[in-house]
Amino acid sequence: MILVTGGAGFIGANFVLDWFRHSDEAILNVDKLTYAGNLGTLKSLQGNSKHVFARVDICDRAALDALFAEHRPRAIVHFAAESHVDRSIHGPVDFVQTNVIGTFVLLEAARQHWSSLNDADKAAFRFLHVSTDEVFGSLSAADPQFSETTPYAPNSPYSASKAGSDHLVRAWHHTYGMPTLTTNCSNNYGPYQFPEKLIPLMIANALAGKPLPVYGDGQNVRDWLYVGDHCAAICEVLARGKVGETYNVGGWNEKKNIEVVHTLCDLLDELRPKATGSYRDQIAYVKDRPGHDRRYAIDARKLERELGWKPAETFETGLAKTVGWYLGNQAWVDEVASGDYRNWVETNYAQRA
Ligand code: NAD
Ligand code: TYD
Repeated sequence: MILVTGGAGFIGANFVLDWFRHSDEAILNVDKLTYAGNLGTLKSLQGNSKHVFARVDICDRAALDALFAEHRPRAIVHFAAESHVDRSIHGPVDFVQTNVIGTFVLLEAARQHWSSLNDADKAAFRFLHVSTDEVFGSLSAADPQFSETTPYAPNSPYSASKAGSDHLVRAWHHTYGMPTLTTNCSNNYGPYQFPEKLIPLMIANALAGKPLPVYGDGQNVRDWLYVGDHCAAICEVLARGKVGETYNVGGWNEKKNIEVVHTLCDLLDELRPKATGSYRDQIAYVKDRPGHDRRYAIDARKLERELGWKPAETFETGLAKTVGWYLGNQAWVDEVASGDYRNWVETNYAQRA
C-alpha cells in the first residue's frame, strides 16, 4: 500500500478519490483532522477496505512507528501541512510545528522503516513531498517564471515553513540516500477546497450576498492549477520521477486576482443569476495582506519534457467545473464552514474593512 498524509484535506482527498478511480492498491490515510480536514469528503469510500484511515498527528513519532510497522507502505505521498498564508500571519506556530517539525518526524519514521527493507524494496521505496511555488518568493511582471533551479526566497511564515520542509527532504536524500521526490505546485482550485481560499471564498460570499473582499489593488498574479491535473502530475512523479529531483507543477494560467473574481462573477451571473444586477456589484477592495507576494508563475516544462505530463484543463474549463461543483454541493460547504471557521472570518476580515 501507499501512505498518504493529509488525505482528508483539499488536495489530499482529491488525490485519494482519484487514486481509487485508476488503482486497486490500498491507501493508509494519515490525517490529524484539523479544521481543514474533513472525513465527509471521503464518505464515498465508506466500506472500501482498501482505504484505511488513521487519525494521527505527523508530529507523533510513536504513532507513526506503529503505523509503519503494521502497514509497511511502499511509498509515502506527503500532503499534510498548515496551508493558508493569512492564518500563518495571525498564528505562525502551527506552521512551524506541522510543516517543519512534522515533516522532520515523518522523515525519521520513514527512514527507520526504509532502513529495515530488503535491497529491492529499499530501491523501489519513494517519499514524495508536496510543496508549493511560494518557496521561490515574489516575481515582478517582467521576471521569468519559477524553474526548478530558482533560488528559494520565501516571504511568509507559511512559505518559510514549507521551504524548511523542502530543505529537510533534500538533505534526507543527500545524506541518507532516501529515495525522495519533491513537487512544487502553483495555486490549486477545484472541488472540496476549504472556503478560506480565494476561489471558494468568493463563490460562497457571492451566493450569500456578502462582499467579495479583494486584497490591495487586486493586481497580484497567481498561476492556477486544477486539482485533478495536480493529482495526475503527482501520480506521474511517483511512478516515474527521478529520485532526488524536484518538479514544478503549474497550470499555465497566470491571472490577476481581480480577473479571477470577475470571471467567477460572470459564471455565477450565468448559472445562478441575481434578481437584479451582477455579482460584480459585491466586489469590495480591502486592506492588503502584509508582505503580499506580487506574482507567482511556474515553468512546468521539465515535467512535460521528462514525464510527458501537462494539464488537461484550461482555466475556463476548470473554473466552470469548480463553480458547478460548489453550486451542487452547498451542504459540504455549510458543514466545513461551521464552528471555528466563523471566528476565523472575524479575525481575518473585520480589520480589513
Ligand atoms: P489543506 O489545508 O486543505 O489540508 C491539509 C490537511 O493536512 C488537512 O486534512 C489537515 O487535517 C491535515 N493536517 C494538518 N496538520 C496535520 C498534522 N500535524 N498531522 C496530520 N495531518 C495534518 O491543504 P491542501 O490545500 O490540500 O494542501 C496540501 C499540500 O499541498 C500542502 O502541503 C500544501 O502546502 C501544498 N500546496 C497547496 C496548494 C494549494 O493551492 N492548496 C498549493 C501549493 C502547495
Ligand atoms: P489564497 O487562496 O489565500 O492563496 P495564496 O495566498 O497561497 O496564493 O489567495 C490567492 C490570492 O488571492 C492571493 O493573492 C491573496 C488573494 N485573496 C484576496 O484578494 N482576498 C481574499 O479574501 C483571499 C482569501 C485571498
